[in-house]
Amino acid sequence: MVAAGVLISGAGTNLQAIIDQIAAGRLACTLRVVISNRAGAPGIARAVRAGVPVRVIDHRAFARREDFDRALLDVLREAGAELVLLAGFDRLITRTLIDAFPLRIMNIHPGLLPAFKGLDAQGAAQSYGVKIAGATVHFVDEQTDHGPIILQGAVPIGPDDTEAEVHDRILAVEHEIYPAAIQFFAEGRLEVEDRRVRVRGPRPAVTASLVSW
Ligand code: GRF
Repeated sequence: MVAAGVLISGAGTNLQAIIDQIAAGRLACTLRVVISNRAGAPGIARAVRAGVPVRVIDHRAFARREDFDRALLDVLREAGAELVLLAGFDRLITRTLIDAFPLRIMNIHPGLLPAFKGLDAQGAAQSYGVKIAGATVHFVDEQTDHGPIILQGAVPIGPDDTEAEVHDRILAVEHEIYPAAIQFFAEGRLEVEDRRVRVRGPRPAVTASLVSW
């Protein structure tokens, strides 16, 4: 059982997917705290409903990114988090947090990295005209959307798809692969060698069009 802290800024649908998998007994993880940097984030209500303690830490109250990260770190430590999950968290994190949780911070990105890093990866993929889009779960390092890739899920997209269709299709993959990656971590099955992450043992059944690790 891994103790996790989740950082959110918005809707929290990935947080919800994690909560749901825990409730279904399919994820050996306990959520110790959810931290939002935005008081109005709808994801906060999801945590409250699930009985997970919530803290709001507004990044605007801190002069430097490192000071904000120090405040996050204090709360994560106090909560006993061993793993930190960025789930739609809209701030860049610094070494202050990364060094405290080496290979223990994960992020979900709505693109097939290393393509389409940064904001609106779904829109960028669509404008570029790619035929396959998807999502990536990766460990976080000091560069944006860059750390070792744990798993990726892909979906087909086409020129006539609406923005909302592409967004929702990718989000459905996110909701599947993020809990799966956390479960691999919880089972101690992830081996990291430079950029390469090996998942030891059997592959669970997945429903996304294509999921690989
Ligand atoms: C997701 O698309 C995630 O990949 C990105 O931010 C979005 C968060 O969505 N990092 P939600 O708050 O989990 O609904």
